[in-house]
Amino acid sequence: MSDKIYDVPGDWAKRAFLDERGYRAKYEASVRDPEGFWADEGKRIEWFEPYTIVKNTSYAPGNVSIKWFEDGVTNVAWNCIDRHLPTRGDQVAIIWEGDNPEESRKITYRELHDEVCRFANVLRNRNVEKGDRVTIYMPMIPEAAYAMLACARLGAVHSVVFGGFSPDSLAGRIRDCGSKVVITADEGLRGGRKVPLKANVDAAIAKAADVEVDHVIVVRRTGGTVNMEPGRDVWYHEAADLVTSECPAIPVGAEDPLFILYTSGSTGLPKGVLHTTGGYLVYASMTHQYVFDYHDGDVYWCTADIGWVTGHSYIVYGPLANGATTLMFEGVPNYPSNSRFWEVIDKHQVNIFYTAPTAIRALMQGGDAPVKKTSRASLRLLGSVGEPINPEAWEWYHRVVGDERCPIVDTWWQTETGGILITPLPGATRLKPGSATTPFFGVIPQVVDAEGNVLEGACEGNLVIADSWPGQMRTVYGDHERFMQTYFATYPGKYFTGDGCRRDADGYYWITGRVDDVINVSGHRMGTAEVESALVAHPKVSEAAVVGYPHDIKGQGIYAYVTLMSGIEPSEELRKELVVWVRQEIGPIASPDLIQFAPGLPKTRSGKIMRRILRKIAEDEFGNLGDTSTLADPTVVEDLISHRQNKK
Ligand code: WTA
Repeated sequence: MSDKIYDVPGDWAKRAFLDERGYRAKYEASVRDPEGFWADEGKRIEWFEPYTIVKNTSYAPGNVSIKWFEDGVTNVAWNCIDRHLPTRGDQVAIIWEGDNPEESRKITYRELHDEVCRFANVLRNRNVEKGDRVTIYMPMIPEAAYAMLACARLGAVHSVVFGGFSPDSLAGRIRDCGSKVVITADEGLRGGRKVPLKANVDAAIAKAADVEVDHVIVVRRTGGTVNMEPGRDVWYHEAADLVTSECPAIPVGAEDPLFILYTSGSTGLPKGVLHTTGGYLVYASMTHQYVFDYHDGDVYWCTADIGWVTGHSYIVYGPLANGATTLMFEGVPNYPSNSRFWEVIDKHQVNIFYTAPTAIRALMQGGDAPVKKTSRASLRLLGSVGEPINPEAWEWYHRVVGDERCPIVDTWWQTETGGILITPLPGATRLKPGSATTPFFGVIPQVVDAEGNVLEGACEGNLVIADSWPGQMRTVYGDHERFMQTYFATYPGKYFTGDGCRRDADGYYWITGRVDDVINVSGHRMGTAEVESALVAHPKVSEAAVVGYPHDIKGQGIYAYVTLMSGIEPSEELRKELVVWVRQEIGPIASPDLIQFAPGLPKTRSGKIMRRILRKIAEDEFGNLGDTSTLADPTVVEDLISHRQNKK
């Protein structure tokens, strides 16, 4: 914990929407009278039919129901595009920066309108209607945003699957939501390397007999050769040539679904987090405006991928709802060199830059020179998201990247929350490196102990949210019971975040990381159970237990304990084989960093694996294993310790 405090820079206090007093007053109003507060705030978007009911939410055990602005009618694409046309038709909506530094494009709001309408017409011609699910498996190209907005325009529900996921993972996600249409590209391009997206889609559909996809729409990105299945597959550019650039925005109820996004939990398969229309957009728009202090004319860049929620809320929906100029980057931070981010900032005169701690730590290892050779004079604000940022990385980001001039907003939130919940506001909040600081408007965080007692003052425990906010997920797609069980059963009447947290004497929140069996690898959420089930699917593996361990760059690395089938000998070769296997089963982000072959795992007499012990061993904390007397065979622990794998 760092005890340094950074005051709000003088120029920020002047230009920001809110200063410290402004924040306090608005926050108090938001929790004193949520109905009144959100009734006003809901007007930041346009409604075809206004809402009369603002908040209708219940966290009651067994009966969780969340509705905001429920009788309002609107359309997300209309709000992100059409309503800006009279005033911003010629303003750049999206700056696209390719993987190759020579390639970039600027798309105005007028062009965005035409592109999205064309895309929507292509979907309409393939019978996509309101409520239908469409899977999007795309690289970071403008067509990915067009596809999302085209779905929104029709009231169809998109499910974006990160382009790094394997055919198996993709198939599972197509199956779960029953998409009949998949949108993809021939290949993606990242760091000069090609990603075989279309081939993965083919493999996904071929593998899963119960996946029935009627149409695959393929955007041409690299021009690489791909297989096109007659009757099923169509080139986007050919289909788009046959349609007009006008397509009505379908009126959609505030509580109609906007998208599904699969995310890892502590158990089982990833959950389809469902977000709806009105509340989500109001919340994404409001947080984007205040947290990034977005003013007209600013150039804003979030480096996330649209396959994650950060890309949904803070590359596409929040910024476009605000009529912003949002930058979309196809590439990676270290290609062609470690200066890439900073060069892009200079090239496009970026004012607001939002990235993840893992990227900052990786670039920090390359030293100051690649940063310092660029100007970055346009930068005014920096942001961080995805995992706790360690104070060393925070200080480097502040000193070297921001030249001590730019505040850092460390934004804590989740796929489930739709938007940022705990964060500084740059004109209002004094910063402490490593703390996400204080709640956004309408958000009531609480720290509870294991029994659910609400702790007061400075304390440490689990983070819960006491009441609903408009951006909150509404359900797990197709499984409301799982939704209630996962988020509302641990501490009845409260939303349980799955994160541990400390609150200091100033009321600042310090997120300490997940307290469940979810690990956070380079800011990507991964369920240990998912990696375990991939491992045990290998014919030579009899049992596996996966835990996280501290990793200098990734935040957490994946540590797998593997018990082999009898008669199978451990070997370096097999270790490599298992890594490749997991990459194929789930995707590269799930690659185990360390695999320890373990003849036995520590189990209780009832056969339950004691993960606490495995975690301690992986963390190198042998002295602190706690009570091992309830183990069926305490000697396995000695063996595990003596064969612990070394950190890379
Ligand atoms: C972690 C990403 C500390 C946290 C938006 C959370 C953070 C999980 C922060 C959600 C932060 C995200 N400080 N931890 N600023 N931001 N996390 O669903 O553990 O991919 O529960 O959403 O990331 O990850 P998700």
